[in-house]
Amino acid sequence: MTDQQDARVLDETARRRTFAVISHPDAGKSTLTEALALHAEVIDSAGAVHGKSGRKGVTSDWMEMERTRGISVSSAVLQFAYRDNVINLLDTPGHGDFSEDTYRVLAAVDAAVMLLDAAKGLEPQTLKLFDVCRSRGVPVITFVNKWDRPGREALELLDEVEQTIGLRPMPMTWPLGIAGQFKGLIERETGEYTAFLRAAGGATKATATVVDAETAKAEEPLYWQAAQDELELLDEIGAVWDEKDFLTGKATPVLFGSALSNIGVARLLDTLVDLAPAPAPRPDAEGHDRPLAAPTAGLVFKVQAGMDRAHRDRMAFLRICSGRFERGMVLTHAETGKPFATKYAQSVFGNQRTTVEEAFPGDIVGLVNANALRPGDTLYASDPVEFPTIPAFAPEHFAVVRCKDAGKTKQFRRGIEQLGNEAVIQVLRSDLRGDQAPVLAAVGPLQFDVVTARLETEFNAPVTLDRLPFQIARLTDAEGAAALSAQSETEVLRRDSDGEYLALFSNKWRMDIVIRKFPDVRMDAMPAGS
Ligand code: G4P
Repeated sequence: MTDQQDARVLDETARRRTFAVISHPDAGKSTLTEALALHAEVIDSAGAVHGKSGRKGVTSDWMEMERTRGISVSSAVLQFAYRDNVINLLDTPGHGDFSEDTYRVLAAVDAAVMLLDAAKGLEPQTLKLFDVCRSRGVPVITFVNKWDRPGREALELLDEVEQTIGLRPMPMTWPLGIAGQFKGLIERETGEYTAFLRAAGGATKATATVVDAETAKAEEPLYWQAAQDELELLDEIGAVWDEKDFLTGKATPVLFGSALSNIGVARLLDTLVDLAPAPAPRPDAEGHDRPLAAPTAGLVFKVQAGMDRAHRDRMAFLRICSGRFERGMVLTHAETGKPFATKYAQSVFGNQRTTVEEAFPGDIVGLVNANALRPGDTLYASDPVEFPTIPAFAPEHFAVVRCKDAGKTKQFRRGIEQLGNEAVIQVLRSDLRGDQAPVLAAVGPLQFDVVTARLETEFNAPVTLDRLPFQIARLTDAEGAAALSAQSETEVLRRDSDGEYLALFSNKWRMDIVIRKFPDVRMDAMPAGS
């Protein structure tokens, strides 16, 4: 590449912010995504910016944008411009769609927004996703949502974050008024106060007005005093901004707001732009950083198979890690050395797909016809590279799978092997269970549905699944397998993909008993393990 091309890649990369929202169902992720998009300018496939800028955030704008640009809050990736930056918001499917893919998305982001419901604080799914962020060194910004309705105390929520996950909170804004009595936000650094007024006539969106301290104090004397006392306390305990602690995962900037009322949402975008890291050189499998201006290379972090028999195509989601991607380039699949044509490069917005002409580090490209690609694979244009693969995550659901039709055992075996290779599901085996009844291990039950459907439609092998009463898995070794073989409510199996031994336990209590009984046996947690 010429110096000029290098400079362009570096410049475009510096503008990118690629992140995901981690939250528990109902915390307000969809509402926040909508609210974020309302502040955004939409970018078309050629990277040009369209649409209205600014914050005329009303529902009709959003619906219009959704209609004309094909954006949906169920998007795989929402790309938009904010200030001078390009924001890539990756979806982390939750609810019934929760699966190992949800975790894998976190291999493709540079930051995460941890969304908390002010009344509920840290909830189980948030904790699991946070655990993956921590294991991958992804810095986390915390947004306390739903401050417009009754909830817990701000200090209590901060304390919970610090005590439960050991992340030091660094509030950037502070709410005036308890949860449910949201008056406005005070900027920690400047002391500037912004009051939020609900529009008359029942509209949910609020308008923001900067108000001087004297007026605010006169209007809300009690809340003002309480907020000043709390701010003093925060200064005293050292809950202050520290960039290094944020980037190394020791501390989290905290913002308060209400996605539904559009309060604090622009502040969140500003925080992402100002504080979250731009894409950085990604280490390859040997630990050497791939320079951002190196030839094009990317990491496949998710592969989606069409569940429809008529559409067998598979779409791979590639996170660009270096260089400029251009549609039509022929990349090399690092794992097989085979060429991969990128004529059908798309960005996926809900049901709609738009062609991607070019992309830069931090961007996500959907590649059609990606039947040979698996999550964790690398594609590069030249100057070969292989990024570390994405590790398997702690499964929490287990089932024995059997072929319904004795005449289809060959197809069944081939299908299981293929789906295990594609990392659609973890396949576990033991001599005891034999080849005809392997155990499938999943992060979310959705993965079982995908496997069942694909075995039937693609491999012509209808199966039955019998759920097993295990909930927790730990990595062990051959010695562990021997030691644990006679324990009740415990089973050790071997994982096809990497040969690791997994010890399965019916519950945490059972696992603790076994760990106490065999203190010297290897029993390692996997990311997102409880
Ligand atoms: P999710 O994607 O994380 O599952 O959450 P979602 O955005 O669907 O929000 C869950 C519920 O919380 C919705 O209410 C939504 O309106 C509400 N909500 C989200 N953000 C806020 C907020 O800042 N303040 C308040 N008061 N509510 C918020 P719902 O009743 O389940 O759905 P709907 O009938 O309102 O759509």
